[in-house]
Amino acid sequence: MEVELVDTPAHTIRSLGVIKSLCPASVGVLATRHHRSTRIEPFYRFGVDTTHMTTTRGLRERDDPITMLTAYDALTARIVEDCGIDIILVGDSMGTTVLGYDDTLPVTIDEAKSRTAAVDRGTDDALVVADMPFLSVGVDESETVRNAGEMLKDAGADAVKLESGPHTVEITERLTQLGIPVMAHLGLTPQHVNQLGGYTRQGTTTEAAEEIIELARDHEAAGAFTLVLEHVPANVAERVTETLDIPTIGIGAGPNCDGQVLVGTDVMGLSEEIPPFAEQFGDVKREMTDAVDAYRSAVESGAFPAAEHSHTEPDLDFDADQ
Ligand code: KIV
Repeated sequence: MEVELVDTPAHTIRSLGVIKSLCPASVGVLATRHHRSTRIEPFYRFGVDTTHMTTTRGLRERDDPITMLTAYDALTARIVEDCGIDIILVGDSMGTTVLGYDDTLPVTIDEAKSRTAAVDRGTDDALVVADMPFLSVGVDESETVRNAGEMLKDAGADAVKLESGPHTVEITERLTQLGIPVMAHLGLTPQHVNQLGGYTRQGTTTEAAEEIIELARDHEAAGAFTLVLEHVPANVAERVTETLDIPTIGIGAGPNCDGQVLVGTDVMGLSEEIPPFAEQFGDVKREMTDAVDAYRSAVESGAFPAAEHSHTEPDLDFDADQ
């Protein structure tokens, strides 16, 4: 069966929603390279699930970069989707942003599954990508497959993201073969914070940059459908983007990726601190603080609850002895 490529609003990659319904086990990705008034090279790629027994590739135009943002609950995911964000990442950044851990290492597979399921319940069309927590992949093959598979089967994710390195090439290949779409992640991989000595820039020497480019190629060859590049020089990200056919999504990686991702709480103004490459676009913490303060002082002053917040039942006949 040939799959027709349909025109969807240029603003979003909601075509992924179409793909989602066409082929839940596969993911399509559409991207446009922003080569600053030179070549615009869009591409579109998806696999159709085995019931259709065919794969179609085609080209489509899309002028705007892919947008990805993290969310960890249904309420926020609904807002993020309604804003037209293409991909919702249920990042293991949940560890520091909403679960109160010092870093992402303690996040458990159950916490990640529960948060992914909530995000899935809060969304209709957005592509939901579940970030695999520290040590939930790579320790043992069958456990890796079970953990990643349950993100799709139980939690409703459309794909998983793996913090990547030489050890994830084979894992990416295996998961992809099994129908679990993989988003790779190179550059700064926060699960390696104890080896990196902090959340430091990566790919800053020619050798390190070449290693990232090679690993990016390896993950593409292994079947990754897209690649996150974190905290790497813009020229390294540009080079990787030119080299690969799959889209790159940058965070602290400059403007020449096919898309951008940030942590939702940083964007909204809920984080205590944001990394140097992020940007706060709102002040939700101020709004929340004002609302909670106003509530507290209304209760303390007796202004709340007012008459309209409760009612009296006129026909009640209390026993005078009680
Ligand atoms: O966990 C996360 O939020 C991430 C993004 C920052 C890419 O991995």
